[in-house]
Amino acid sequence: MDARAIITRIRNGISPRREELSWFAQGLASGRVSDAQAGAFAMAVLLKGLTEPARVALTLAMRDSGRVMAWDLPGPVVDKHSTGGIGDCVSLLLAPALAACGAFVPMISGRGLGHTGGTLDKLESIPGFHTDPDEASFRAQVARIGCAIIAASRDLAPADRRLYAIRDVSATVESLDLITASILSKKLAAGLDALVLDVKCGSGAFMKTRAEAEALAQSLVTTAQDAGCMTSALITDMEQPLVRSAGNALEVTEVMLALTGAAAGSRLVELTAQLGGEVLALAGLAADAGDGARRLRATIEGGQAAEIFGRMVRAQGGPGDFVEHWRDRLPAAAVVLEVPAPETGRLVALDGEQLGHAVVRLGGGRLHESDRLHHGVGLSDIALPGEAVTRGQPMARVHADSRGAALEAVAAVQRACRIGPQSAMPSQPPLILQRIG
Ligand code: URA
Repeated sequence: MDARAIITRIRNGISPRREELSWFAQGLASGRVSDAQAGAFAMAVLLKGLTEPARVALTLAMRDSGRVMAWDLPGPVVDKHSTGGIGDCVSLLLAPALAACGAFVPMISGRGLGHTGGTLDKLESIPGFHTDPDEASFRAQVARIGCAIIAASRDLAPADRRLYAIRDVSATVESLDLITASILSKKLAAGLDALVLDVKCGSGAFMKTRAEAEALAQSLVTTAQDAGCMTSALITDMEQPLVRSAGNALEVTEVMLALTGAAAGSRLVELTAQLGGEVLALAGLAADAGDGARRLRATIEGGQAAEIFGRMVRAQGGPGDFVEHWRDRLPAAAVVLEVPAPETGRLVALDGEQLGHAVVRLGGGRLHESDRLHHGVGLSDIALPGEAVTRGQPMARVHADSRGAALEAVAAVQRACRIGPQSAMPSQPPLILQRIG
């Protein structure tokens, strides 16, 4: 086969054949396909689009470009994927809660991307926690405890690893077909029976509009189902942070409050229950999503999820007494400053993307791939849209490593807020905007 012929077909709007996409994905993984060819392929897909069967074929070809895990466990293997937002620490709560409900969760997660935080970075704020166990330890932990949260190994969907890096520098990240194949090739390589997707929509998400979020959710669900994985998606609100904190250790704090019963009824617990309910129902562990959500909430309220979280932390190198002593174990920033409200009135909007960038600049995320994170920095006590604020009174706290960095973040948070008159009550979108599946 010839890479040029495959690119020409796509460029001319002719659907590529399954075996051609398989050859191309193998070529990406082996290096037989050059960077120039990969860039041209990505641009042709972005401009012409793929048919649904071709998108499924590309996803499966990228999945099969590396190792595909198979499991033999006494329960279904499930996972969740989020498209990323501010204060989105659901994975840390959901993985142990699903395990407590009888599911097995080999969660392969990512690091911060752009203005959004990453699950691995959050977990690594726990002293000693490591996210790269060898395969035997990973498999044994999933079988023994029910969950593990780790980074993708190099042999998982290697075609995606290469294509993603090329898309990043060739203005081809935005293709729905390529985003779908990229996300799902890695998830399907983990050998899942069922998957739930959290597609975030709003100022703190990558998908700013409902139409964009719906198109991505539809593409992901159709492709995953066609590929044989039971899947549904929730489109969820990201016009405000999910919790009142943004930053690695600060979000672990929010998770620990939820796991220890101090956040019942919060948006974090509610979204975790709804996503978990979906996947428990898909996997046959609940009668329907409502029943699943109830079971999941019960494991959080009853302490079973906390117990499994503690075992997972210990198995992955963290302190054995983390659940009991998390307040003493998490890193704290050197400087904490209040963010005074610049005016009296009502907070009508909060630009989540600007908040996320403020956390990155504090050192909570990366500007360059090699940057080392400062796990204690970030924002806490963030006022949310609809709340009244008083000039000079705090509407958030900045946690920073230096006073200079803190003052810069204070100004950034003030710029991210729009304050209107007391009477200007913003419309409050529901947490779950839509279900697709
Ligand atoms: N996350 C991925 O893994 N791939 C994409 O293309 C976008 C987000």
